[in-house]
Amino acid sequence: MTCHGAYPRTRLRRTRMQGWCRELVAEHRLHPSDLIWPVFIQEGKNTETPIPSMPGVNRITLDILAKKAKTASQLGIQAIALFPVIDSKLKTPNGDEAFNPDNLVCRAIKEIKNSVPEIGIIADVALDPYTSHGQDGIVENGQIINDKTVDILCRQALVQARAGCDIVAPSDMMDGRIGAIRAVLESEGYQDTLILAYAAKYASALYGPFRDAVDSKKLLGKADKRSYQMDPANSDEALREIAMDITEGADMVMVKPGLAYLDIIHRTATAFPLPVFAYHVSGEYAMVKAAAAQGWLDGEAVMMEHLLAMKRAGARAILTYVALEIAERL
Ligand code: PBG
Repeated sequence: MTCHGAYPRTRLRRTRMQGWCRELVAEHRLHPSDLIWPVFIQEGKNTETPIPSMPGVNRITLDILAKKAKTASQLGIQAIALFPVIDSKLKTPNGDEAFNPDNLVCRAIKEIKNSVPEIGIIADVALDPYTSHGQDGIVENGQIINDKTVDILCRQALVQARAGCDIVAPSDMMDGRIGAIRAVLESEGYQDTLILAYAAKYASALYGPFRDAVDSKKLLGKADKRSYQMDPANSDEALREIAMDITEGADMVMVKPGLAYLDIIHRTATAFPLPVFAYHVSGEYAMVKAAAAQGWLDGEAVMMEHLLAMKRAGARAILTYVALEIAERL
């Protein structure tokens, strides 16, 4: 690129001098329709339960969900992602509640489809909210068993599709699950159900507040997810994960977390011509909120800067707990 001349003929500050001009030349922009709102749902009626490690985020019951989904849609948000808080009595080693066609997520999907049909619904496909040990897979002799887990994930994705879910989003990181889920959806008549693959999901320390929110942290204890989620040291491997998920039938892929993995978002967006989404995760949210509560940062400005960074890196859309706040501000 040789579009630059020498100073003083070229003064790059000229285009920065006035607000209108900065707007005209902006290369990237945040828009409410870039944002996907992740929501924690719980049983009950008319109840919001705060999550201490995620100030400002509440677990909500389905009646409130219906109202908030409407608000989100009116603000220009196009999709909502559901994460259930499952009663501990329903948690089992195999996470059987995950494929109960009347589970909390399936009821939430029907509720939103009824009351706000214009908003897209994303449901997480993973067992961790449902297992008594907090892992995303079936555990035998201390190992996460890949193929048996994939069988259950297929049943989970199918009940979600039957309930009317638009996008199933496997976040478990088992091998081969995208292909298996795609095959089940095809054979059961759900050929139009989208798959958003959490293709490059890292074994990150930034998921702590999420695990508080879905009550899996205590169950997980000192165990970790490093035998299936990716090693933060790797980036070429992320491209292999993504390439495989595309081959297996993913419509969109997700990189997660966002900010610490901008290089992965960028490489993915450059290497593959399909939509890449970023997940601005719970720990990224909590850090900024905590600093803002101390008066150390302008929380909203930092959040906007982080989200814009993900877009600049190449993210087409972003899952973020600040979706409503930011959409209101925009
Ligand atoms: C479950 C899942 C997790 C997140 C989304 N889906 C947690 C985990 O993998 O332990 C984390 C999201 C966040 O931190 O905001 N498979």
